Amino acid sequence: MTLAATPTGVTARVPGKINLQLVVGPLREDGYHELATVFHAVGLYDHVIVTPSDDWSVRVGGRHADRVPQDGSNLALRAARLLAEESGGQQPVSITIDKQIPVAAGMAGGSADAAGALVACDALWGLGLSRDELAVLAARLGSDVPFLLHGGTAIGSGRGEQLAPVLARGRLHWVLWISRHGGLSTPEVYAECDRLREAAGHTPPDPEPTGELLTALRTMESTAVGAALHNDLQEAAMSLDPTLATVVQAGLDLDVEGAVVSGSGPTVAFLVGSSDAAIDLTVGLAARGPEGDIVRVDGPVPGAQVVGSFTPS
Ligand code: C5P
Repeated sequence: MTLAATPTGVTARVPGKINLQLVVGPLREDGYHELATVFHAVGLYDHVIVTPSDDWSVRVGGRHADRVPQDGSNLALRAARLLAEESGGQQPVSITIDKQIPVAAGMAGGSADAAGALVACDALWGLGLSRDELAVLAARLGSDVPFLLHGGTAIGSGRGEQLAPVLARGRLHWVLWISRHGGLSTPEVYAECDRLREAAGHTPPDPEPTGELLTALRTMESTAVGAALHNDLQEAAMSLDPTLATVVQAGLDLDVEGAVVSGSGPTVAFLVGSSDAAIDLTVGLAARGPEGDIVRVDGPVPGAQVVGSFTPS
């Protein structure tokens, strides 16, 4: 019998998400909003590396490292500790995050790191938990964490943590505009949405995704998907960050299939019909749009997965 060597470190890769649709329902008694969303994982990745250590710690590097907490409030560290606790106690880990997903940007970057930490620690500690078992812990960490484990394209309901797969074939090409002047706080955007609705005397309906989007996703026909993009938080995000209206308009004035603010913003996702169109739009936005990082990504991509492990030789 050969015993598998215990790895001395594991790396997980985890994508960011955009929301193709986000329909916000009423505020619940627990402070969350009932919602219906269509999540879509896109190829902008963080890497989460875990190595055994005497103490729990987290270090963050990469393009978006500033503004990520490096203390006990870090979501990846909380995920690792939660998994250790729930699996009967494990040796502490030191976590290193290469942060390429923007922070407080509506792309669930913190949730992504939590999902990455769950799969990396599961592999490091040899727990062999199923995705469904990890998803239960993921939901305790944040509404978007189960989706970042799942990846692909999926409907989220409840507060976003209950997932149902979407029948989707093919690939979509996106250009993301990412703010350089700071993120938006998710609770503040939801509160602004409530305030705007109250001022307009608008009662939110029971949320569900539209049939048009689900039909369009079956073939990933970009014109039909583009026409069905929708976000109930978009007006609130634009009210808190008026630059976003200019960004969306700049894209619509160029050649796009659709435009939508992702989640609580301020990232704006533009759908285009081909990778050549994505390059043209990148050039056009850089020349005309408000200053921001412009990134081309494809979707859907898989959720958090182990991409490497170091084993003692
Ligand atoms: O679940 P998560 O910690 O990511 O949510 C952050 C905040 O976003 C919540 O505290 C809440 O203010 C808001 N939120 C909401 N309704 C949801 C999801 C998030 O109001 N369905």
